[in-house]
Amino acid sequence: MIILVGGEKGGSGKSCLAQNVAVFLTAECQASVIMVDCDPQRTTSDWIHARNNNPELPSINCVQLYGKIRNDLLSLEQHYDYVIVDCGGQDNLALRATMSVASHVLMPLRPKRRDLKTVSHMDDIVATCMMINPKMRATFVITQCPSLPNQANRILEAKEVCKTYDINVLDAITYSRNIYDDSEESGLSVLEIEPQGKAANEIRGIATEMLQVANATEIRNRIAEKQMKKMRGEYGSDRSQEKLYAV
Ligand SMILES: Nc1ncnc2c1ncn2[C@@H]1O[C@H](COP(=O)(O)OP(=O)(O)OP(=O)(O)O)[C@@H](O)[C@H]1O
Ligand SMILES: [Mg+2]
Repeated sequence: MIILVGGEKGGSGKSCLAQNVAVFLTAECQASVIMVDCDPQRTTSDWIHARNNNPELPSINCVQLYGKIRNDLLSLEQHYDYVIVDCGGQDNLALRATMSVASHVLMPLRPKRRDLKTVSHMDDIVATCMMINPKMRATFVITQCPSLPNQANRILEAKEVCKTYDINVLDAITYSRNIYDDSEESGLSVLEIEPQGKAANEIRGIATEMLQVANATEIRNRIAEKQMKKMRGEYGSDRSQEKLYAV
């Protein structure tokens, strides 16, 4: 399954979400995950580099790809349960190429006017790509929300803006928390720094709501089911080969 974390707005938390969701799927769902970094800033590649230097952390593979990456992604999808693509903050070829094959597109937005102004253009891009890839499920997620009660309206208003377009908006959000920034430094995720913390639960909430499952166990079961099907398929084709040779 290919998941794109993308969008036009710089600094909305794309890399941060992509990395934390990758750890959730790897560590809590026992999925095989590869990250694809399409951003020349190499934020995700650097994070992976720091992470894979720490032998105590489950390692995650990462490749850098640019431009027409559709076939590369399809080929990676054959070898991994999840391919998570971090496209950086522009509308570019890699973003559109990924949207032509992705199952899920997660677009983070802060509850700020400049972020919300990008919604209309993102809606256009999604609509264009859905002509080629109608099964793609695109969702906005509101990130870095202020936690002060008198600012709660900002979050609701941001969701309302998104809802005026044909794209879903997740109930799950992230609040602005230092732990997101602190965890990145050493290739960690908020799930590893404080597994029972609020930020860890935000990531679990976003990943499961996006993938439309109740919890990590359901994702594990889906992966096991897919592997069984694949094995049966391979066994089936061997049998037909045997028959072919028998004749
Ligand atoms: N919920 C959050 N609370 C606090 N800080 C956050 C949160 N999410 C992300 N950040 C921080 O915001 C900064 C920008 O995040 P990130 O690099 O993920 O954005 P981006 O959308 O990938 O940016 P770019 O467009 O440059 O690729 C980082 O320092 C990150 O730690
Ligand atoms: Mg980024």
